[in-house]
Amino acid sequence: MEPRRTILQIDGLNAFYGDVQVLFGVSLHIREGECVALLGPNGAGKTTLLRALSGLVRRRGRVDYCGQELTGTGYDKVVRAGIIHVPEGREVFSGLTVLDNLMLGAYLYHNQRGEVEMRKAQVFTLFPRLKERQHQYAGTLSGGEQQMLAIGRGLMARPKVLLLDEPSLGLAPVVVQAIMDVVARLPTEGISVLLVEQSANVALTVAQRAYVLNGGKVVDEGPTDYFRDRSRLLEKYLG
Ligand SMILES: Nc1ncnc2c1ncn2[C@@H]1O[C@H](COP(=O)(O)OP(=O)(O)OP(=O)(O)O)[C@@H](O)[C@H]1O
Ligand SMILES: [Mg+2]
Repeated sequence: MEPRRTILQIDGLNAFYGDVQVLFGVSLHIREGECVALLGPNGAGKTTLLRALSGLVRRRGRVDYCGQELTGTGYDKVVRAGIIHVPEGREVFSGLTVLDNLMLGAYLYHNQRGEVEMRKAQVFTLFPRLKERQHQYAGTLSGGEQQMLAIGRGLMARPKVLLLDEPSLGLAPVVVQAIMDVVARLPTEGISVLLVEQSANVALTVAQRAYVLNGGKVVDEGPTDYFRDRSRLLEKYLG
C-alpha cells in the first residue's frame, strides 16, 4: 500500500502571547485520513497550538499544508484552505437555531445551494440528533448536543483538517462515546483530525497516533499502542 501523504507538517513552531513564549519548537505531522491526538495537562499549550495554526496567535516556525508552506496568519485564509478549528467550550450561538448555526459554517460558499445541501445531509447523517433539533434554538440544546453542533458547524466549512479542542470536556461518558464514534468516522470521509484531549483514555480509542505536550514542548510521541502500554507514564504527564 502507498504510504499516505502528509497533509499538515509543523516544524519548530514557537508561539507567543505578546512577549511571552508559550510553544517551544513544536514539530508534528498529520497524514491524510489520520486522527492524531494531542495530549497534555492544563496549560501545556494545546489550545495555543491550534490557535497558532488558525492564525489567531503569533507564531514562528514552519507550517506546511498540502505540500505548500502556509504563510501569513489570516484566519479567513486558513479556513478557505480547509483547516477548520472547533474551539474549546463549544461556542455556539444560543440565540440562533441549530440550522442557522450550521449555516454559519458554510459562509464561504452559502450561495452554492447544492453544495450546502450536500454538506448539511452529511452532518445530519453523522449527527441525527441535530437533524431532529434543527429548528430549535441552540441555547436549548444539552451540552453534548451543543458540542455536536460545534463540530457540525466545523464540518459545514468543508475541512480537510479538523482541529478539535477538547470535545469531551464536561460531558457524560455515554455522550463522549457518541461524539468519539463520529470523530472516528471522519477520516473515512476524507477529513484528517487533530484531536486535543486531556483525557488520554478517550483520545487513544480514536486516534492512530498521539503527541504529548508539556510546558510548550513535545515530550513524547508514538502510535496509540505505544501509549496504551505506557498508561502509567501518561498519568505522570497528565497529572
Ligand atoms: N491570551 C493569553 N495571554 C497570555 N497567556 C496565555 C493566553 N492564553 C493562554 N495563555 C498561557 O499559555 C499557556 C498555554 O495555554 P493553553 O490554553 O494553550 O493550554 P492548554 O494546554 O490548552 O490547557 P487546558 O488543558 O487548560 O485547555 C498557559 O500558561 C496559559 O496561561
Ligand atoms: Mg486548552
